Amino acid sequence: MHCTRKITDDLVWIGGNDTKLSLFEAVYPVPDGVSYNSYLLKDDKTVLFDTVDNAVSGVFFGNLAHELGGRALDYVVIHHMEPDHSATLGQLLALYPDVKVVTSAKALTMIGQFFEPLPADRVITVKEGDTLETGKHTFSFVAAPMVHWPEVLMSYDAADKILFSADAFGTFGALGGAIFADEVDFVRDYLGEARRYYCNIVGKYGAQVQTVLKKASALDIKMICPLHGFVWRRELDSIISKYDIWSKYEPEEKGVLIAYTSVYGGTQAAAELAAAKLREKGITVKMYDASMTHTSYIVAEAFRYSHVIFATTTYNNGIFIKMEELLHDLAAHNFSNKTVGIIENGSWSPVAGKLIREILGKCKDVKILDEQVTIKSRMKPENEAALDAMTEKIAEDFVKAVPAQNDSAIDVKALFKISYGLYVLTANEKGRDNGCIINTAQLLTDEPRRITVAVQKKNLTHDMILSTGRFNISVLTDKATFSMYKEFGFVSGREKDKFADTPVEFARSENGIVYIADNVNAYISCKVTDSRDYGTHTLFTAEVTEARVIGEGDSVTYDIYQKHIKPKPAPTKKKGFICTVCGYIYEGEELPPDFECPLCGHGAGDFEPLS
Ligand code: FEO
Repeated sequence: MHCTRKITDDLVWIGGNDTKLSLFEAVYPVPDGVSYNSYLLKDDKTVLFDTVDNAVSGVFFGNLAHELGGRALDYVVIHHMEPDHSATLGQLLALYPDVKVVTSAKALTMIGQFFEPLPADRVITVKEGDTLETGKHTFSFVAAPMVHWPEVLMSYDAADKILFSADAFGTFGALGGAIFADEVDFVRDYLGEARRYYCNIVGKYGAQVQTVLKKASALDIKMICPLHGFVWRRELDSIISKYDIWSKYEPEEKGVLIAYTSVYGGTQAAAELAAAKLREKGITVKMYDASMTHTSYIVAEAFRYSHVIFATTTYNNGIFIKMEELLHDLAAHNFSNKTVGIIENGSWSPVAGKLIREILGKCKDVKILDEQVTIKSRMKPENEAALDAMTEKIAEDFVKAVPAQNDSAIDVKALFKISYGLYVLTANEKGRDNGCIINTAQLLTDEPRRITVAVQKKNLTHDMILSTGRFNISVLTDKATFSMYKEFGFVSGREKDKFADTPVEFARSENGIVYIADNVNAYISCKVTDSRDYGTHTLFTAEVTEARVIGEGDSVTYDIYQKHIKPKPAPTKKKGFICTVCGYIYEGEELPPDFECPLCGHGAGDFEPLS
């Protein structure tokens, strides 16, 4: 049997997935498996790009024979000699005695170490700038030393503009039938594993990755074929930009990683109190118990966040074992460019803090805060001032949390001056249609065409989009009446099937999702490529898959809605507050700060006093 995927007209993936491997490189857990990618080019000459790990040799050799279909194999290009890609090279050379090995001089030495030295007439040794012509295609070689071993080559196909990138741009995780990154929700399901793969496998070699990125920027690359994980044919910038950030050791996100170890709970309690204090300041916090979470996950999170607190126990007059392992692993991976806080514990002679400073003091651009917390056995009231000092010092690096909207520093009317449009956002899950009103659709980029929408989590449409990754935007015109807004904006799809007996006309686009056909001038269908959690809302980034103009009329703006569509309140002498979104009136002297409009669900910040 065979299982292959076509990449281009004459290039096919013939690799395999190992889902039973416990520890990649005998170190890293791979709970979702790992793929070993190999590619076969069927040009005038046939070219195999790398072999695979022994674990998937059966499926690999079956795939190779199937795709060759009786043709001879002319070349095997070895980009990387690590056995997860080259363990089956010896078997390949025996099965295909006429194949020529194309590789670097360093890799050739390693072939002699792992197998037997190759006779000169079976080898073409190449270096940066050399080329291999196969018919329609010409491959040029790019040296990529230490990404991830010293012998590594990449190759670039000038005909189809494909970079064969060796380990770079790979990810942990079996492919599950997909081969292109755009076939899966990469950000949701794989970005974490791509980060963990990068940081742990090549994280130490940031300077070398930067060198390769500079070389790559001179090439016109339309596709990246790595040795693990997915092929990139769209939005290449999204993964290249991550590699740029990671290899410069720049924090990917502002936030605090708290890594702790705790033998009897005292250190954990102090770490959790630090986390709570930071959360209260509106700061993102991720916590890991380093005794329970494999170091590789914490190393990846340490690359990700701008600040790290290490909380640990003194143990055998040193640092608690699992924390010491983590700290040495971080230092070995060039832990850099961070602000660090320390919480140490020690029932009679706490020294962990001093020892942490010795390890991390050698790391580049790591600022260790003087505001250290020392506890003896348990957090006591007298320790809290030190914890406050440390968390407040960290908070100085973060933008202050936005005050509540009823704070006089923010006049919501100023925010309404931004010219928003208004849209019906629709989705479908398991045959159920739903839609809601939004004012947050924005065209993000032209190439590729991407749109962002921010959607309130309490909307059913939000959950449907999160689950299905697809939605439509119907662009309302200024002829849409207030009833349209009531229909889709003032009632939740959790309480009513909005499309069951709506008087509003609607139809379906190619993705099967409804769009509004009444007083709408266009609809846009989108596929989600990224989602980010912003507390009350999720911001979805999505690729436009269809966009059609379906009517005349000017697009409505929030200003027009406020001035001309929303009903004016009847004059009244009553005391109260009016919802600036839908016109609902709350009668009373004071509006409770946590009040939510029963019509449209907006909060107290969107109310103003009746005049
Ligand atoms: Fe995937 Fe460095 O081997």
